[in-house]
Amino acid sequence: MIKREEAVTLLEENIASENMKKHCYASEAVMRALARRLGKNEDEWGLAGLLHDIDVEITNADPKTHGPYAKNLLKGKVTEEMLDAIVMHNEMAAGKERTTEFQHALAAGETITGLITATALVYPDKKLAPVKPKSITKRMKQKAFAASVNRENILECEKIGIPLNEFAEISLHAMKEIDEVLGL
Ligand SMILES: [Fe+2]
Repeated sequence: MIKREEAVTLLEENIASENMKKHCYASEAVMRALARRLGKNEDEWGLAGLLHDIDVEITNADPKTHGPYAKNLLKGKVTEEMLDAIVMHNEMAAGKERTTEFQHALAAGETITGLITATALVYPDKKLAPVKPKSITKRMKQKAFAASVNRENILECEKIGIPLNEFAEISLHAMKEIDEVLGL
């Protein structure tokens, strides 16, 4: 498996959008926190978070190729489990439903970063600091808020044994730790 430094280079080479890069760094932070919580390999989970959207610009987020394209791009660079979780974060391209903890964690983890970011942006300073886990769970129920954020993906946290309240707390804390990277 490649080192983080190399993964960051890959990310920088393949993603131009600053917001998308931030989404990837946020996903990495959340995945590292989840790995620690569940006793999984932190680097594997973290780098899967960092690299899961590596093909999003080249595939134009096409539901049929986003995921499989990344798998080809990353083959030989990361573990099979990571490739699998990355492909499966887009069930539509994979043509099957997620079943493993790693798959559920990545889908839920990368998705909650969007809800957390949208929640922070509502505050006057647009920062994570005043955001509380409860703000996240409240926004979770407001379907019209950040409507493109898939609530079902986020609720897959329950499939890895982490209730939504705790999942929001872990994810928010993880993102706060890299608030400067995220510009939040
Ligand atoms: Fe993503």
